[in-house]
Amino acid sequence: MKILLLGSGGREHALAWKLRQSPLCTALWIAPGNAGTAELGTNIALDPNDFPAVADLVQREGIDMVLVGPEEPLVRGIYDYFQVHFPNLPVIGPSQVGAQLEGSKAFAKEFMLEMGIPTAAYREFTAATLQAGLDYILTQTPPIVLKADGLAAGKGVVILDDLAAAQAELRDMLSGKFGAASAKVVIEQFLSGIEFSVFALTDGKDYLILPEAKDYKRVGEADSGPNTGGMGAVSPVPFVDEALMKKVEETIIKPTIAGIAKRGIVYKGFVFFGLIKVGGEPFVIEYNCRLGDPETEVVMPRLQNDLVELLQATHEGILSQQQIVMDPRSAATIILVSGGYPGDYEKGKVISGLTAVKDSMVFHAGTKNSSDGIVTNGGRVIALTSFGDNFDEALVFSNRNAEVVKFEGKYYRRDIGFDLH
Ligand SMILES: Nc1ncnc2c1ncn2[C@@H]1O[C@H](COP(=O)(O)OP(=O)(O)O)[C@@H](O)[C@H]1O
Ligand SMILES: [Mg+2]
Repeated sequence: MKILLLGSGGREHALAWKLRQSPLCTALWIAPGNAGTAELGTNIALDPNDFPAVADLVQREGIDMVLVGPEEPLVRGIYDYFQVHFPNLPVIGPSQVGAQLEGSKAFAKEFMLEMGIPTAAYREFTAATLQAGLDYILTQTPPIVLKADGLAAGKGVVILDDLAAAQAELRDMLSGKFGAASAKVVIEQFLSGIEFSVFALTDGKDYLILPEAKDYKRVGEADSGPNTGGMGAVSPVPFVDEALMKKVEETIIKPTIAGIAKRGIVYKGFVFFGLIKVGGEPFVIEYNCRLGDPETEVVMPRLQNDLVELLQATHEGILSQQQIVMDPRSAATIILVSGGYPGDYEKGKVISGLTAVKDSMVFHAGTKNSSDGIVTNGGRVIALTSFGDNFDEALVFSNRNAEVVKFEGKYYRRDIGFDLH
């Protein structure tokens, strides 16, 4: 089976690595990919949002399956595009309506309300209802959470301790702070607790639960400083015990998949549940319609199934015939980032030491091949994933290798998992 994987981050390198282990995968293309994926298949320089270009590639190479890594092509409707042009081609990901679970916070909240899924109380406002929004804020107790409805590259959520500041933020958002993404704003109750992520693979009626994970989004140690795409992750998550996971499955996963089926939404792909444990109870912070990054860099190593077999069963709607097998060990990953990230940073720094890494898996994120060798090409550069009997033991290897891999300006967090002891 010839497979095309869309995307270019650490998530995609980890997926490519996993796909390549399947005897069913006879050839792999990655578009656009990075220097790591280039070692596992053929990188093709094209934009995953350029659907006609993706379709040309599919036609030219006789691709048998497309796996979509990032959210943007899904939210823009790549699934539906291929339904029209290549109706028999397995595309792994939700339809455009299903992708609204990530693409519109208001859609997701309304869906959860209808399905009785635990999530923070909320209201939604547009420019036409600005005054009602300003009044509503005054009825709330801070902190107050404002969310741009649409995709905002992880920057669309603002949490404020002051009601006047929240009113000002609402005005800014509704007058285009995040462009069309904030033409609608969700205001929700602040939930206090500890976050974690659960992933499911669904064919639209059945589902399989993948290893759970916890990621670290802030750039600074002890979760300080600005948000990033993610600085590290661990799986499993020590506080997610069987009892909590059972609640997640019964109160969140089952009603979500049942809701997808009830609405007749076509969804053959991954669902990411961004969760928070409040007291002993899980609540949904958000849905994503694809796997997370860097969570994938710990989830794929722990998944012992043949990924291609799982994706085929997803496409055929026979997921109920499959069972997930997880590596019982802990996996942890540390992300090496460019100096200055998530603010301005330089690219093109030569990366050395990659071949000297021992006892960790190396997943490339922002890297590319150049005449100088492999160089940095983004904020997040390299993920170093290791196994151990617990995450601390796994991190010993990742930390050691974080020193072995070198590039000018390299930075990483030395405290991944700090809140889990
Ligand atoms: N209702 C809430 N209560 C407390 N924290 C929240 C709430 N909603 C979001 N957050 C915080 O903001 C982060 C980003 O929100 P999220 O809905 O995941 O948006 P996105 O990932 O699209 O930026 C969450 O990971 C969480 O830390
Ligand atoms: Mg999030």
